[in-house]
Amino acid sequence: MKRAKKPAKPKIKATRRRAPRKARPRAMKPMGQAQVRLRVNGVEYVRTAEVRKTLADFIREDIGLTGTHLGCEHGVCGACTILLGDQPVRSCLMFAVQAEGAEITTVEALGTPEALNPLQQAFMDHHALQCGFCTPGFLMSATVLLRENPRPTEAQVREYLSGHLCRCTGYQGIVAAALDAAKRMQGGKRG
Ligand code: FES
Ligand code: FES
Repeated sequence: MKRAKKPAKPKIKATRRRAPRKARPRAMKPMGQAQVRLRVNGVEYVRTAEVRKTLADFIREDIGLTGTHLGCEHGVCGACTILLGDQPVRSCLMFAVQAEGAEITTVEALGTPEALNPLQQAFMDHHALQCGFCTPGFLMSATVLLRENPRPTEAQVREYLSGHLCRCTGYQGIVAAALDAAKRMQGGKRG
């Protein structure tokens, strides 16, 4: 007697199943960091920095321009003054991320040791600095003063620079330097 044939096993197609893809980790900046792009003294810089980093620290540490000084770090002494656009600003009171896309000028842009600008030269000639710690801030504010008011009176100079502290000079030399620089910038004409 013939044996009944076993029914053929249904062929199972081998299908390759892909394991569900794990979400690939995206390239992310570490928490609390952000990219900052700004121009300082005509040069563009792009850096990743902590969102809580001050503009002053960013300029000094991330860009490497250490002419901007830090004294009080809470907006009182004026040593950290830079120009944001065309206005003097205390860079210790701003976060670097707040300056995204800004045009910044620091004391390094004024002149070089070999070629001081008239304001710097006047500071030197009038002994307007001793330790020099406050000087970058005074120079930046005085730069704006002389641009906005090319012939300031002594009272106007004193008032404009009154937000800056100097522990060394007694201010007399600083005021004299600003007035003399105004004169020099106008080719010696006053009045
Ligand atoms: Fe910014 Fe003193 S360091 S005001
Ligand atoms: Fe020393 Fe001003 S020159 S603090």
